[in-house]
Amino acid sequence: MAEVIVTNCGNSLNLAKKVAKQLKAKYSSLTISTFPDGDLYLKFNTNLKNKILVIIQSFQPHPDMSLFDVVFAAETAKDLGAKKVILVAPYLSYMRQDKRFNSGECVSSLVMAKLLNNSVDSLITVDPHIHRYKGLDDIFMIPAKNITANPLIADYIKKHFQNEIIIGPDWESYQWAENIAKHIDVQATVLRKTRFSSRKVKVKMIKPISIKDKNVVIVDDIISTGHTVAEAAKQAKKMGARTISTICVHGLFVENGIHKLTEAGVSKIISTNTIEHSTNQIDITGLLVGEIKKWL
Ligand code: R5P
Repeated sequence: MAEVIVTNCGNSLNLAKKVAKQLKAKYSSLTISTFPDGDLYLKFNTNLKNKILVIIQSFQPHPDMSLFDVVFAAETAKDLGAKKVILVAPYLSYMRQDKRFNSGECVSSLVMAKLLNNSVDSLITVDPHIHRYKGLDDIFMIPAKNITANPLIADYIKKHFQNEIIIGPDWESYQWAENIAKHIDVQATVLRKTRFSSRKVKVKMIKPISIKDKNVVIVDDIISTGHTVAEAAKQAKKMGARTISTICVHGLFVENGIHKLTEAGVSKIISTNTIEHSTNQIDITGLLVGEIKKWL
């Protein structure tokens, strides 16, 4: 088997080092900077000839730069003789713009996929936001694998909660809520979300169950601004929940999201380390390593 080199493009440094250690592969950092005029400068600091390069890069923060850096790094690696470039993007950005919601808009997920199709050889990602697509194959021509952090989240809830109820704050997240609840044999319910804008949502319980005195765990794939979970938390509070916690796969927490959640009564905020953040309590390293090994 060819030697494996693991690197990252600015984000996911801790994850990249942990993955390299578990793979018993060399981690080599990339030099990325800009010229005075703003042009990107990128340099590999190891020999890549006939090696397999694994780039671990979450596309958050800085989704635009991440995409650009990955494309430049992958093209350079091939130019330097790398045998294969595997991109592991634990959080893949642009997936939520999966249709032209208003005329004239860019379907960003298609453009992002096109750029990656042209530059990397394969892709591994964790719980991408697949809503209107049937799967990653709808937009990726390269082999692309979607792995889920669901069992890890279910185990976490089982270990750390009692007398709990799982809530999915919208239909899109219900797949997580229901799946996780089944795994640990507890009740789950879903809320109906009406989104008025990126920063304004309203939720309503459409499958009413009693949550009085229960420890409510709101699960979602992504917490971005926190509006969705905050609205769900307010609803749970009104209905008499004893405690309210939230667990997400991808914790973006933009625009003071954490504050919004605590203000709404969320006492515990937990995320996986697909995006590095102080709320990371669920480690996906083993999940990634298991998958990467199949692709070497
Ligand atoms: C949307 O469909 C996702 O599942 C999340 O609910 C959404 O991305 C969360 O966004 P925000 O935190 O900004 O409300």
